[in-house]
Amino acid sequence: MPERLLSHLPSRVTIYEVGPRDGLQNEVTPIPTDEKLTFANALADAGLTWIETTSFVNPKAVPQLADAGDVMRRLDRRPGVRYPVLVPNERGMERALETGIDAIALFAAASEAFSQANIRATIDESFDRFLPVIALAKQHDVWVRGYVSTAFHCPYSGPVDVVAAVAVAERLFEIGCGEVAIADTIGIATPTDTDAFLDAALARLPAERLALHLHDTNGLALANVMVGLDAGITIFDGSAGGLGGCPFAPGAPGNLATEALVTLLDGLGIETGVNADAVRSAAARIRQVIDNSS
Ligand code: HMG
Ligand code: MG
Repeated sequence: MPERLLSHLPSRVTIYEVGPRDGLQNEVTPIPTDEKLTFANALADAGLTWIETTSFVNPKAVPQLADAGDVMRRLDRRPGVRYPVLVPNERGMERALETGIDAIALFAAASEAFSQANIRATIDESFDRFLPVIALAKQHDVWVRGYVSTAFHCPYSGPVDVVAAVAVAERLFEIGCGEVAIADTIGIATPTDTDAFLDAALARLPAERLALHLHDTNGLALANVMVGLDAGITIFDGSAGGLGGCPFAPGAPGNLATEALVTLLDGLGIETGVNADAVRSAAARIRQVIDNSS
């Protein structure tokens, strides 16, 4: 790597794949459970070791992932691959535990308006809901990630105060999250926004346990990844094929494509263990399934 180009970049980065969960949750036409399992297997074959597989939310809120129990019961868990699932409350955790999960992701928001729209609760209420979930996670030795949604911008109330977003991340660590993902839910953060957030966050939070979860509405996600790398972030979320969006966040069309992320990191000489072409093939197949279902 040319020395001039950020010589302090990390030598290895972890990619946390969210395609089967964030990528599919917004698709309206039902995708067969078998195809979801094939997708997860193809992503594991591509070298991804973190695959957020589904979501134990209210199935009426996200019908596409109503088969979460079946998906997790039938999943062919590959050695060395973790398959976290999204959990909003104790009910979701109980459902998830019945399927033998060993990793979950909780999600809080930095904006009250988005919290209400997404989970029908204030930010404080969402933390009240997390407490029994964390207790169960400890009891069952389950790894926990936390998300800070709308860390930069809320689709309902506009720009989000950096201090408020950092405070939510801090609270997630305090209740026991092992990792916290900072989410640009509607994908409009600029590199300057990311830099300002990380500047404030890294004064209080451990860089090695922070992830960036970037939607890519304006095509700036990879530029934000560069800012993250420069600040010492080594965990980045991607969604194969750039699939994704949140049904409760208007204007969030897609996530950062995993294959583009891998291509950038390959080009920088940063190891990921992921094969970009294999991710492209997995994405092409699920895209065909989606197109054929609609
Ligand atoms: P609520 O309506 O406030 O909860 O939902 P409730 O306790 O009043 O229950 C209402 C009904 O839901 C009841 O059923 C419950 O049993 C049921 P009913 O009596 O009507 O038949 N229920 C459940 N059923 C199954 N599993 C559960 C569950 N909980 C309640 N876990 C809740 C609160 C959060 C559950 C609901 O609002 C919900 O599911 N929202 C969906 C939120 C969601 O999935 N959003 C998308 C994911 S987040 C995201 O994409 C952002 C992220 O990618 C980061 C970023 O980009 O920002 C992570
Ligand atoms: Mg998301």
